[in-house]
Amino acid sequence: MLKNEPLEAWDRDHFFHPSTAMGAHARGETPHRIIEGGSGVYITDSNGKTSLDGFAGLYCVNVGYGRREIADAIAEQAHKLSYYHSYVGHASEPAIRLAQMIAERAPEGLNHTYFGLSGSDANETNIKLVWYVNNILGRPEKKKIISRWRGYHGSGIMTGSLTGLALFHNKFDLPRAPILHTEAPYYYRRENLDQSPEEFSQHCADKLEELILAEGPDTVAAFIGEPALGTGGLVPPPAGYWQKIQAVLKKYDIMLIADEVVTGFGRLGSMFGSAHYGMDPDLVTIAKGLTSAYTPLSGTIVHDRVWKVLEQGSDELGPIGHGWTYSAHPLCAAAGVANLDLIDRLDLVTNARETGAHFNKAMKDALADHPNVGEVRGEGLLCAVEFVEDKDSRTFFDPSKKMGPTLSAAALEQGLITRAMPQGDILGFAPPLCLTRDEADKIVGMAAAAVKAVLG
Ligand SMILES: Cc1ncc(COP(=O)(O)O)c(C=O)c1O
Repeated sequence: MLKNEPLEAWDRDHFFHPSTAMGAHARGETPHRIIEGGSGVYITDSNGKTSLDGFAGLYCVNVGYGRREIADAIAEQAHKLSYYHSYVGHASEPAIRLAQMIAERAPEGLNHTYFGLSGSDANETNIKLVWYVNNILGRPEKKKIISRWRGYHGSGIMTGSLTGLALFHNKFDLPRAPILHTEAPYYYRRENLDQSPEEFSQHCADKLEELILAEGPDTVAAFIGEPALGTGGLVPPPAGYWQKIQAVLKKYDIMLIADEVVTGFGRLGSMFGSAHYGMDPDLVTIAKGLTSAYTPLSGTIVHDRVWKVLEQGSDELGPIGHGWTYSAHPLCAAAGVANLDLIDRLDLVTNARETGAHFNKAMKDALADHPNVGEVRGEGLLCAVEFVEDKDSRTFFDPSKKMGPTLSAAALEQGLITRAMPQGDILGFAPPLCLTRDEADKIVGMAAAAVKAVLG
């Protein structure tokens, strides 16, 4: 085992980290943490410090750490067949099994999965499919895609454009055409405080319709949204939101892409967020929970009504010109099969619903009355605590106070990992779906102690 010291130096000198303040990290001004092991909801670093991972990595290790069943499935597949491509109709057994398992679990009509490796690449696939479909249908001008401010859909060129967070646009010349953004379904931050959740949902749908009419309905191809906003603040939609949005989309023949990278496979207490909120998407993005991040794997699930057009397209044009070398990689697919089996066997979707309800209530009981807590919100095993300088006026803290990161550092002192969400002073919680009530109570206790240490 190498000692910490040279690893930290090599890390500073050679490792280009994502979403990291590069200068501060290279100069050693920010904490370095080398994670060595994990078991259940806990991870351990190279100094032997154990933390309860209240964010399941990046809300992806849904079955928890150290699952031998998944590790064994990957190893077995590696011994048998480590790789073969899936171009021109080739397949490996786990890839076929996984596609079948996804179709069994997905909402009605979503029956065909194209596999990628990340949520970002799956959303790139979605954009291409939308364009391809409209070209096949003879409406080449219908190409614009509407996303929401505060949505998160990846950090590629087009998917970074879909993302509605300034951090992911600044100095990267994003967003690019033909991506547009509309109002976020963020009830707590609504301008008109007199609006009920239903009225605010109607306001969001009206804003969407206004944008469609201003752009020309014949130029708008698709709308993309996370069933519950994720990285933009962990915000479940206000009552009636998806019904009202879908009514507008149907009126103008606009496709719906449900980005279920976070919500797919149980996070909200239902197998899919689309089913949870009564959505009827044409395309569904999946990633994280598909393998619980034991291997990288993502997918685009295509509805039968879109699939028909894709078949028509390749009957006219030949093979679809889209594919990655690692599409449906056998090791990743083997991890996916073992992971979905485990989710069923341990009944983790029910646990996310039941333990999630307990967790969200306990967090509200502990923190909602704190003078600097504006809102505690959540669904299933997703929970956010939003902090404000002043509760009545919902004022933000001065950004120089870095309140989110300060609170999450204080939580880490307690032994708890939470995520300071990138926009606003929001602490995010999305623990593994195997969380017990006892562990849920521990998270709440440590979070409350961290808030007390920073804000009194
Ligand atoms: C809703 C959503 N879509 C897409 C992505 C991008 O996934 P990846 O980081 O695997 O590219 C994420 C990542 O957090 C996400 O939360």
